[in-house]
Amino acid sequence: MVMTQEMMDVIADSRAYVATATADGVPNVVPIGNIKPLDNKTVIIADSYMIKSRANLEANPKVAFVVQDAAKHPFQFKGSVKIYKSGEYYDQVVQWVKETAPLAPKPKAAIVIDIEEIYSVKVGDAGKKID
Ligand SMILES: Cc1cc2nc3c(=O)[nH]c(=O)nc-3n(C[C@H](O)[C@H](O)[C@H](O)COP(=O)(O)O)c2cc1C
Repeated sequence: MVMTQEMMDVIADSRAYVATATADGVPNVVPIGNIKPLDNKTVIIADSYMIKSRANLEANPKVAFVVQDAAKHPFQFKGSVKIYKSGEYYDQVVQWVKETAPLAPKPKAAIVIDIEEIYSVKVGDAGKKID
């Protein structure tokens, strides 16, 4: 699944609402500011504060998110994550948070999302698969 430039720009520039679920399907949703695309198929999140979200992702790697201004950018992204507590992706989020939020705690992990499905949530064609 391939994100367009518009999709990548809005993910980089805005907050997202990120949904996870327990292994038996109890949902959880949180706002996330440190989220950005790595390329047109991959998104990275700095896990600085996740508790339930992180426990959910350890048990169930599936994630879904929408961006804050879904009225203007009506996209819904779904994918599977890998969690990195060291290495290149982890070092990247540590550096990123240091630059964007110097007072924030050191991230606990990098959450890398492999984008698998993209849908429209636009009123009128809601639920339509884009890619
Ligand atoms: C505006 C805003 C931005 C946030 N950005 C992040 C973030 O980039 N990374 C993060 O780990 N938590 C972030 N949080 C915290 C999470 O939304 C949430 O509080 C945290 O994941 C704990 O909730 P949970 O136990 O349901 O996961 C942010 C919260 C707010 C209000």
